[in-house]
Amino acid sequence: MRKILSHPTQIVTVDTQGKNYKRGKELNSISVIENHSLILEDGFIKDIVPNSSIKRSPEDEIIEVKDKVVLPGLVECHTHTAFAGSRADEFRRKLAGESYEEITKKGGGINSTVKAVRNSGIEEIINLLVPRVNYFISQGITSLEIKSGYGLDYENELKLLQAINYLKDIFPVNIVPTFLGAHTFPPEFENDHKGYIDLLINKLIPYISIHKFAKYCDAFCEKTAFSPFEIEKIFTRATESGMELKLHTEQFNNIGGIDLALKHNIASVDHLEVIKESKLKALGNSDIVCTLLPGVSFFLNYQYAPARELIDNNATVALATDYNPGSSHIANLNFIISLAALKMGMTVEETISAVTINAAKAIGLSKETGSIEINKHADLAVFDTCDYSDIVYNVGKNLNCMTIKSGEVIYSRI
Ligand code: NIG
Ligand code: FE
Repeated sequence: MRKILSHPTQIVTVDTQGKNYKRGKELNSISVIENHSLILEDGFIKDIVPNSSIKRSPEDEIIEVKDKVVLPGLVECHTHTAFAGSRADEFRRKLAGESYEEITKKGGGINSTVKAVRNSGIEEIINLLVPRVNYFISQGITSLEIKSGYGLDYENELKLLQAINYLKDIFPVNIVPTFLGAHTFPPEFENDHKGYIDLLINKLIPYISIHKFAKYCDAFCEKTAFSPFEIEKIFTRATESGMELKLHTEQFNNIGGIDLALKHNIASVDHLEVIKESKLKALGNSDIVCTLLPGVSFFLNYQYAPARELIDNNATVALATDYNPGSSHIANLNFIISLAALKMGMTVEETISAVTINAAKAIGLSKETGSIEINKHADLAVFDTCDYSDIVYNVGKNLNCMTIKSGEVIYSRI
C-alpha cells in the first residue's frame, strides 16, 4: 500500500549516501529538500519526488503535511527509563550543596533506586514504563534504548529486562534493551566485588545472552563503580556470549575507560564530560560513537563534554537524554539538543545528525533507520514548523505533531 507524505515545507533527510553515520564535518550537512513529497510503500521509504511530478492513484493514502518539516524518526540511544521510585529527596540535598558523588558514598544514588526496584513487582514496573515510552513517542522518537541496571541481582536484573522486552513486544517503535548489571556494586556485595563480578559473568550474562534479553552489555567505569580491570572480565564474557558493548566513562574521573573501549572496539562511549585532550584523536580515528549527555551536566551543574573538540577531531557524535532518576531526570530530547547547541557549541545541523543517524549507529540500527534514504524503514517525525531551526530554537517545546513508524502513523495531533 502506497502512502504519500504530501507537500511538507522541508524534508530534512540527513542523507549519508549509504554510509549510515556522520563523523566530524559531515555532521553539519543534513540535506534539506523543498518542494518534494515522500512516497512510502510497505513500511519503507520508496522515493522522494518533486511535488510537480506526483502521480496520485485512487488507492494512495495521502498524509497532508503542508507547512510542516519532516525529519527522520528521532533516535534516543541512552536511557535508564526502567526505574521505580523517586529521588526528589536527593535533588533537594543537591540543591542544598551536597554533591552527587557524596550522596552516592552515603548509600544514596543508584542504590536507592535499586531498593525501589527490588520492592516493585514486574507489573508495577511495566505500568511505570508505559507512559514514559509514550512520552518518547510523542516527541517523534521511533527508536529507543532502555538499560537495566537498577536490579543488581539475578532476580531483579532479569525482572527489568523482562519488563523492557515486554515493552519491545507491545510498542510499535524499536526498543533496544541493554544489560547494565555493572552499574554499581549492590549493598550486599559492597565488600565482595569479585563475588558480584562472578554473578555477572557466570550467571547473568550467560542467561541473558541465551534468551536474547539484551543486545548490549554496558558498564559504568568510575571510581565509585567498576575499574577497567573488572570491566575487562565482563566485556570478555559478554563478547564471547554474542553481546555487543557500550561503556559509561569519563563522567567524573579518568581511570582508563577510553583505552578499554578502544581495545574492545565497542559500539559507543557515553558521557565523556571529563575526557582528556590526549584521548580525542584516538576516538576520532575509531568507529566508536561518542554519545554525549548534556542533560547530566545541566542537572548536576558541572562541566559539559567537549563536543566541539570531538567533532573537530572527526568523531562520530550522538546526543541522548540519559533519562534516569539521579543524574538527568530529563526525558525531553528536544531540550537536550537545545542544550547541546547553547552549551556545547554544536550547530543546529550537528544536533540533528546527533539524534538521528549517529544515535541510530550507537544502537546498531543505522542501516534501517536514522535517515530518510530510499529503502530504509519509513520512520519519520513531522514537526509543526516551516523551518527546521525552530526545533532547536524552541527550547524544551515539543513541536513534533506526528510520529510515523514503518509507514504507520503511531502518534498524531495534526
Ligand atoms: O548515566 N553514570 C551512571 N549512571 C547514570 C546515573 C544513574 C543514577 O544516578 O541513577 C548516568 O548518569
Ligand atoms: Fe547513563
